[in-house]
Parts: sequence; structure tokens; C-alpha cells
Amino acid sequence: MKTVGIIGGGQLGLMIAQQARLLGVRTIALDPAADAPAFAVADERIVAAYDDSAALEELCRRSDAVTYEFENVPGRVLIPLCRRYNIPQGFRPLYDSQDRLREKENARANGFFTPEYAAVDDERSLRATVERIALPAVLKTRTLGYDGHGQQVLRTEADIERALPLLAVPCILEEFIAFDYEVSLVMVADGERVVTFPVGRNVHRDGILDLCFLPAGMEDGVLARLRQVGERFMAQCGYRGILAVEVFVRGDRFWFNEMAPRPHNSGHWTIEGATTNQFRELVRFLVGEPLEEPQIVAPTVMKNILGQDLAEAEKIAAERRPNVHVHLYGKSESRPKRKMGHITFVGMTPEEYARDWAARFV
Ligand SMILES: Nc1ncnc2c1ncn2[C@@H]1O[C@H](COP(=O)(O)OP(=O)(O)OP(=O)(O)O)[C@@H](O)[C@H]1O
Ligand SMILES: [Mg+2]
Repeated sequence: MKTVGIIGGGQLGLMIAQQARLLGVRTIALDPAADAPAFAVADERIVAAYDDSAALEELCRRSDAVTYEFENVPGRVLIPLCRRYNIPQGFRPLYDSQDRLREKENARANGFFTPEYAAVDDERSLRATVERIALPAVLKTRTLGYDGHGQQVLRTEADIERALPLLAVPCILEEFIAFDYEVSLVMVADGERVVTFPVGRNVHRDGILDLCFLPAGMEDGVLARLRQVGERFMAQCGYRGILAVEVFVRGDRFWFNEMAPRPHNSGHWTIEGATTNQFRELVRFLVGEPLEEPQIVAPTVMKNILGQDLAEAEKIAAERRPNVHVHLYGKSESRPKRKMGHITFVGMTPEEYARDWAARFV
């Protein structure tokens, strides 16, 4: 029996461990919080900080292959371990995504269009860049942003004034793309082939993913081009394992927004809505099994459950409806805007969701 080590024990780690178990693969999760969601399912646990080299080494020693769901594992800890243990995704995709400036340079160098951008470090460089790329624009911290934290849309002079505190750390200013919609491309590569999950449309609310609709309703030609650019990107970068790319779409154009070398929130629908899911294919890659090409089962809607939606989600779970799959992550503390679970509605269109379900959530 093989063992997969997971750096990070949040909901992504939890779902990796659940799918590993279904494949007959053991898991060990490492997380700083003793009540991390993945610990409920993982076969073994290590409670330690992400920069605790000895603990990470212990995880590697006890695993046949190690992956990460936490994106900010420091290179000084992970790189030496990659040399001595089997961490098949390596540090490279983490390195390429940990800084938004490097991330966009890398995307451009490997075939994606990105919004215009420039590094900004102080008010002077911010104003000079605003002159060049014009408003509206988006100011983001280069590192550690998530769920819309560490970013601000600039539309007016007053917005610039208000955004200045962000410049306490290095930032990037990006052109604002007035997209028609957002999608994500979730791919798994094993060095020989790349499998790509069906592309869904992502709807954000207050900077946090709220809904995914499958299929995305993209024009066939644009979808084919996106998949081609994505697969070439994986190959050129030499990435192996899982990668999610968030993309803005307008008309027949698309722009790379950001990427993550881990399962992605927008891919949770695959657990029930596709013939194989993002967690399962990641585990199959990690243990050296051949990848399966995922197919969509039926039109699907995924609704994220934040703290404010938790009580309603529990009610929906109790209703036990067929094709309504409620996932609750078992986090010990519920807060508004904290991701507590998700619901996947298989065989549902966006119109049906709007008519029958949307009103149940705040
Ligand atoms: N350049 C841009 N033009 C238009 N909208 C943008 C731009 N950058 C970000 N946004 C909007 O803000 C959302 C969050 O931005 P981004 O993905 O860069 O940040 P994040 O905090 O890492 O988000 P998450 O963790 O939710 O993926 C995007 O999905 C998009 O809706
Ligand atoms: Mg994002």
C-alpha cells in the first residue's frame, strides 16, 4: 500500500485524503492546527509549522510521494527535501506562483496573454504606472494574497489615495480586464500526457469564489484554443502534477490571471459532476498510475458554503436529495466569509439554480 504525504490539512488536503482512501492509498497530512480538516480522514497526522524542516522531513520519510495543498511553503525548506525525497511536482510551480510578478512573467514567456502589469513599490512608481496603463486598474500585493485579500480596484484618484497603505509591501499594478466571465483550467500532467478537466465558469462575490457552472458555455473554438495554450504551457514549463489556471474571457480573447499548483476550489464539482475528479487524478499521478481523461457527467452547479451559509447547507444536507451533494469540511470555527463547505448540484443548469436555489443563501 502506498502512502501520500500532504503538506497542508485544509479542505483540499481533506478531499485529497478522501479520494486517496477510495484508491487504496494511505495519507499523512501535515498542518500547524491540531484540528485541521484533513486530520479527520488522513491515516496519520503531523502537527507542525510549514517551515519546520524536521517535521517536513519526517513527512517525506514516511511517504512514498509528497504533495502540497498549501501554496506558501518556503523554498529554503522544500528545495533541499525535493533533492532527497519524492516530491514529484517539485518546488518550481510553487516558486513560479508565489510572487504575482514572477507568475505573470512566466505565463507570458510560455504562451499566455496576461493583463498589462508592472511592479510598483511606492507612490511614485504607482502613479507612473497608472499614467501608463490607465484606470481602472487593480493593485495587488505580490505575495500572500488570497480570496481577494491584499488587492484593491482603482477607479478614481480617491481610490489611489486609499490604496497607498497596500504599498507597505511590494505590489503589482494590473490593467483591469472588463471580462465577460471567468473560467479555470485544471490540468494534470504526468510527463507524457496532460489531462484537462471540463472548463467551468466561475462567479465571484466579494472577491471570493461563489459559484461554478458547468459547462462554461464557451464558444468551441475559444475553448479549444484555451486548452491548447494550457497544455503547451504545462509542457513548456515542465510542470508535472496538478495545476489550476484562472482565466478572464472576453469575446474570443482570454487572459491568464493566476495559477495554483494544487487542486482548486473551482474543480470541486468534479467529485460528482465528472467521471474522475481533480483529487483522484492528482493521487493517481503521485502513485504512478496512468491518468484518466475526465468527462462531464451532466450540467453541474457548485455553490461555495461560507460561514454565513452553513446553517442552510446543514438543512439541505438533511433533506438528502438525490444529485445534491453537500460537503462540509468540519472546520471547528465558522466565520462569515470562511470557506466551510460546498454543494454540488449535478444535472442542474444556471437557470434552474437561480430559480430554485439561489434564494436559500444570503
Ligand atoms: N486585472 C483584473 N481585472 C479584472 N478583475 C480582476 C483582475 N484581477 C483580479 N480581478 C478579480 O478579482 C478576483 C480575485 O483576484 P485574484 O485571483 O488575483 O486574487 P486572489 O486573492 O488570489 O483570489 P482567489 O484566492 O479567490 O483566487 C478575480 O477572480 C477577478 O474576479
Ligand atoms: Mg484568484
